[in-house]
Amino acid sequence: MMATTLCKDESDFKYRRILENHNNCTQYNKMYCYQFVHAVMLVILFLLFILIVLYALVAIPRLQGNIHTKQREISARPVSSVNGDPSKVLSCYYNFPSEDGDHELMPSDIHPYLCTHINVAFARVVNKQISLEHHEYTRLQEVVKLKHSNPELKVLLSVGGAGNDNGFSEMVINHASRKTFIKSIKNLLRNYSLDGIDLDWEFPALHGMQSGARERQHFSQLLREIRMEFIREKRDYVLTIAAAAPQIIVDVSYDIDQLNQYVDFVNVMTYDYHYYTKYTPFTGLNSPLYPRASEQLYLATLNINYTVHMYLSKGLDPSKIVVGIPTYGHSFTLVNKNNHGVGSPASGFGSLGALGFVSYPQVCTFIANFSSDTTVQQDSEAKVSYLYNYKEWVSFETPQSVTEKAQFIKQNNLRGGMIYSLNADDFEGICEHGDGHSSKFTLSLSVRNTLMRFNIQK
Ligand SMILES: *[C@@H]1O[C@H](CO)[C@@H](O)[C@H](O)[C@H]1NC(C)=O
Ligand SMILES: *[C@@H]1O[C@H](CO)[C@@H](O)[C@H](O)[C@H]1NC(C)=O
Ligand SMILES: *[C@@H]1O[C@H](CO)[C@@H](O)[C@H](O)[C@H]1NC(C)=O
Repeated sequence: MMATTLCKDESDFKYRRILENHNNCTQYNKMYCYQFVHAVMLVILFLLFILIVLYALVAIPRLQGNIHTKQREISARPVSSVNGDPSKVLSCYYNFPSEDGDHELMPSDIHPYLCTHINVAFARVVNKQISLEHHEYTRLQEVVKLKHSNPELKVLLSVGGAGNDNGFSEMVINHASRKTFIKSIKNLLRNYSLDGIDLDWEFPALHGMQSGARERQHFSQLLREIRMEFIREKRDYVLTIAAAAPQIIVDVSYDIDQLNQYVDFVNVMTYDYHYYTKYTPFTGLNSPLYPRASEQLYLATLNINYTVHMYLSKGLDPSKIVVGIPTYGHSFTLVNKNNHGVGSPASGFGSLGALGFVSYPQVCTFIANFSSDTTVQQDSEAKVSYLYNYKEWVSFETPQSVTEKAQFIKQNNLRGGMIYSLNADDFEGICEHGDGHSSKFTLSLSVRNTLMRFNIQK
């Protein structure tokens, strides 16, 4: 069609010849032939030009968006687990044992199939870089060795923890210092064959009022830049955070849409809802699943059910929500031994545990040692237990209470459970259960066997 308009004086016969074979152009029509060839070349150049312009208009914005698409693909990929529901996560915190302590949980004593993820805790941020002590590097390597037994196990380094926020504030503040931090992450992940990083900053934008919203933004930028770097390196490293449970903190600390985009999942710290402080001198439950009918307003928000629905209503994807389950409890000293309900006046931490933190084996041996004077109560609304003995009052978890939390996770189609911590669980298997049997890691195992399709025994 193009040829007819360009050479409209020629007969059909000639055009057919030209089109069939340019080299056969006769002397007579050679001029038309050249003109035709030039015209075709001009048209091709013109089309090429249009294509380049179209490409620039359409493809460049796409290229910019491409990074986002890629990262969604990566973060949407289910975390696999041998023996288990491939979509479910059991993310367990393991605290470094102290150098001189006995009765401490050692890495080689952790069942390699108990958890899908082990967060080795805590590294600190010092001078914008990840910092660990010499003996902590040794333990970290020992945890990584569990992957010989379970190659699907993911070992992450957890950075931060309660009271370790200062290094974060200084580090997130500009691109250069975030870059320094990310470089130290990359070195560490590579050097120690780790599978990822868990950021446990408690909490962005909470303390520095003047930095305020900017610190939240900087935290989101950090998450984005870490994810970009993982993609650039073509490594499927895991990026998770530990996030607050109370809404007053969540409102200021996190951009929920950014969490959806850049982290694999969020370990929600759904515990420490109640513990003794001089501003809250009352007994209370560490990790209630539901509110108690007597709780109103703010107090009615301090439970797992509220926290999870609050995150969902803010738009956090259910596949990103990993619900924290404590193995430890909190102890209190009652003001009056006869006033021993939930919410009774307390004068301080209990004598059990350290600063009111009580491990599960401490609770079960206390109950065994003082069974005649100890009353154990189940709170049927909050779905957790507490005990009292004279002025000692302790909120704690049982295999039943953690199983009910795991069922809640399944019913709400959430990503999984998080255990804080393996160290506070009965890792030696000294607690007896009903029939006189005991098992190691009873609480974590109860969660695991409820969440995953296949049980493990130890
Ligand atoms: C990782 O290894 C590199 C090269 O051996 C070394 O320079 C760097 O200090 C190491 N970093 C860490 C965090 O171990
Ligand atoms: C759990 O939270 C949801 C949403 O706030 C609420 O509708 C539901 O009644 C709560 N369940 C219980 C048992 O409190
Ligand atoms: C319970 O009794 C055992 C043996 O007498 C003792 O070693 C342990 O410290 C006691 N534990 C508590 C919590 O009272």
